[in-house]
Amino acid sequence: MAGPTLPRVRALRYVTPLREGGSLPAVMEADDCGTYVVKFRGAGQGVKVLVAEIVTTEIARTLGIPTPELAIVFLDDAMTKYERDEEVQDLLRASVGTNLGSDFLPGSFGYDGSTPPAADLAARIVWLDAYTLNVDRTWANPNLVVWHGRTHAIDHGASLWFHHAWARKAPQRAAFATRPFDATTHVLADVAAPVEDVGSALAARLTDDVLGGILDLVPDEWLEPTADLVDPAAVREEYLGHLTARRDAAPVWVRSLT
Ligand SMILES: Nc1ncnc2c1ncn2[C@@H]1O[C@H](COP(=O)(O)OP(=O)(O)OP(=O)(O)O)[C@@H](O)[C@H]1O
Ligand SMILES: [Mg+2]
Repeated sequence: MAGPTLPRVRALRYVTPLREGGSLPAVMEADDCGTYVVKFRGAGQGVKVLVAEIVTTEIARTLGIPTPELAIVFLDDAMTKYERDEEVQDLLRASVGTNLGSDFLPGSFGYDGSTPPAADLAARIVWLDAYTLNVDRTWANPNLVVWHGRTHAIDHGASLWFHHAWARKAPQRAAFATRPFDATTHVLADVAAPVEDVGSALAARLTDDVLGGILDLVPDEWLEPTADLVDPAAVREEYLGHLTARRDAAPVWVRSLT
């Protein structure tokens, strides 16, 4: 069965590195006349952070949280020859093939609290981060940008960190499902409506079918097999198992947010 997929584009020009980004993402132009912030498969964190980026970003979109459109950005070998900076050249060389693009939001600025989102949107973002265990949304690193006056969520590579452990040991869904989340340092802690008021409506949107459709957006080659998870289908199934178990346990972990 072939469901929706992410657009696939070809990178045409490396515009500039985004040096504030830990993984050295870059602004690139592509053959659909689009401009993207590209996260590279060859960056030190590996492809798992790209999987987290797709899955959590698309969960955010499902929950009505503004977030840039994603695309798979293909980098061909020729692109690596024009770059003079050695660090960038090494990164591009290690990234020939599929990478992840986030539609570049021109004129957006980093969240500084001057134009806070509505209390309901803020609560949805806190719930998203608690659900996906994304610790990367603090004042030190807000990972929110304001564009056309609306708060957009970006940078979800640090979420779903349970997948970093499953290469070493058999995946453990139960521990992840009920794990508490400390929202006291969340950048939106002071402006969010009570999360328990929005939680059940949000969980209801994430049906098994919706979550399965989101996992289908991840390219097979980014779903690294392990001794227990022998092929991309098994890896997808494991993500789905974790995500449905934590969704169903929401009444337990939501208590840790208050
Ligand atoms: N779609 C976008 N449109 C405009 N600017 C963006 C977009 N995505 C990211 N940026 C800008 O690029 C910066 C780096 O992006 P991002 O946070 O996703 O990268 P990162 O390498 O994961 O960063 P870090 O690990 O340092 O948080 C952001 O802080 C933001 O200023
Ligand atoms: Mg960031």
